[in-house]
Amino acid sequence: MIFTDKRALHRVATVLAMMMSAFGATAQESPEGPQEVKLDLYEPPNPTIIRPSEDPKRTVNGLALVPPIGWNSWNKFGCDINEKLVRGAADTMVSTGMRDAGYLYVVIDDCWQVGRDAQGVLVADPAKFPSGMKALGDYIHSKGLKFGIYSDAGSKTCGGRPGSQGREYQDARTFAEWGVDYLKYDWCWTGVRKAEEAYALMADALRSTGREIVFSICEWGKDRPWEWGPKIGNLWRTTTDIRNAWTGRVQFSIGMVDIVDLNEPLYARAGPGHWNDPDMLQVGNGGMANVEERSHFSLWAIMAAPLMAGNDIENMDARVREILLNKEVIAIDQDKLGVQGHRVRDDGDLEVWSKPLADGSRALVLFNRGAQPAEIATEWAELGYPAKMSAEVRDLWAHKSLGRKVGSFSATVPSHGVVMVRVTP
Ligand code: GLA
Repeated sequence: MIFTDKRALHRVATVLAMMMSAFGATAQESPEGPQEVKLDLYEPPNPTIIRPSEDPKRTVNGLALVPPIGWNSWNKFGCDINEKLVRGAADTMVSTGMRDAGYLYVVIDDCWQVGRDAQGVLVADPAKFPSGMKALGDYIHSKGLKFGIYSDAGSKTCGGRPGSQGREYQDARTFAEWGVDYLKYDWCWTGVRKAEEAYALMADALRSTGREIVFSICEWGKDRPWEWGPKIGNLWRTTTDIRNAWTGRVQFSIGMVDIVDLNEPLYARAGPGHWNDPDMLQVGNGGMANVEERSHFSLWAIMAAPLMAGNDIENMDARVREILLNKEVIAIDQDKLGVQGHRVRDDGDLEVWSKPLADGSRALVLFNRGAQPAEIATEWAELGYPAKMSAEVRDLWAHKSLGRKVGSFSATVPSHGVVMVRVTP
């Protein structure tokens, strides 16, 4: 990418610094306190470590050919979850039309588990999930939705609940018995575990159940999961957690646009069955203005990101609903070609993004990070089209045709906003 503006360079430097400091201090703290770091120039190979993705027999699981889409409990509710909330979310996904717009997975994040029984089987919190996970999964399935759950590759989850380390096959079997269709697998309390090995072990355990379970690698991008993830999981987090804010880091969480800048350069790594995951949506959680939430949703869609609503969908207002239910934007995300769009021009605060689509058209986002409204123009050549081509331009937020344009398109974009169109030759 060529930076035509000092601000763009500065932004990259800021994000790099943020990434390094974020990844230097992760959510997992050693109970023994700070560990001594040994700087060995040569590390002898450890014969017990196998690099599974280098195993030529490893194959993809064939799932998630378009980015997973659904709802997850974490961003809004954290550990404050129960079966009533989850059933309510499933009901709402049907009654609001979210299911029919494509939202399929109902994912229960951390804190559903309280321990293990005498046989070592994971036990759901009986006070919060009195009917049990099998019944909850059945309910979700009865609504035409799919059931997602959360565990961790370490001894404990990030919320301090039992992790799956050493119990991978047992837990995978439990999840399959409950009817789980999607596993988000976190990276807290993993000590010196090697990420690729840990995730491959759970991938194999899931595969051994015979059930189709989408595997979501939540390793925060620490060990470059985009390099080893495609034959192990279906999506991998590329960053630390998303904050309910436009920008800025607080502890382990960074703002929406900071995540965009970390996820965008990885576009070539994504494709059908294996997606970069810039974390779940904060749309409707109140930390961003409506115009910023539209930008968030548009950028996630053009990046072919998993679209996991992370808000209180039962109580969302019309403006939030209009964002999450924008079927024309969802269609860009879910496009079968499965190419992650990216920035084709970066003029500091003003950016042009493009994503090729299966029918030969392009999604186009004009994004204004600046404090003032601004005119942003693009030429077809930037989108990989012939310079003088004529194309139909459809505004995906106004839901109307802007007519045919020859060679270029420009629009006035509000501060922190986008104009998102579909360009069809
Ligand atoms: C980590 C993950 C989050 C969430 C929490 C749960 O921070 O990155 O997405 O799952 O753990 O404790």
